[in-house]
Amino acid sequence: MPPSPLDLAALFDAAAGARGRAHAPYSRFAVGAALRDEHGAIHAGCNVENAAYPVGTCAEAGAIAAMILAGGRRIREILVLGDGSGLVTPCGACRQRIREFAAPATPIHAAGPEGVRRSFTLDALLPDSFGPETLVQEMLGD
Ligand code: THU
Repeated sequence: MPPSPLDLAALFDAAAGARGRAHAPYSRFAVGAALRDEHGAIHAGCNVENAAYPVGTCAEAGAIAAMILAGGRRIREILVLGDGSGLVTPCGACRQRIREFAAPATPIHAAGPEGVRRSFTLDALLPDSFGPETLVQEMLGD
């Protein structure tokens, strides 16, 4: 069933709330992410930067960790929210993080403070990707 505008509004609100708690003193680029899992529960995260720059984590990673901790295992839809004139799409590493728990058709929404700017599928952002099935096929000798 396609998500209703109300589902999207709930995701947007959760991402906006999370973004307000970002720890981004170095880039000053606060990001919030929110996802809906297979139970319909919403999990959110924000970016958490570190004085040792590469140690910082993205908002998507926080939202995924929250989902796993709560018992969710599938991402049905995810929204990423940041400011600026460009599109805030998940970084390459986060596309792969999402890939672990999502399907090729899973919607990924790129939002600004005013609302969703553009929606993609996971497959559009990470085509021909490597995932859990690849390892399983290898283990089964397929
Ligand atoms: N960032 C995210 O949290 N998610 C994205 O999708 C893009 C980038 C963060 C990482 C870093 O803290 C800041 O935005 C600037 O790159």
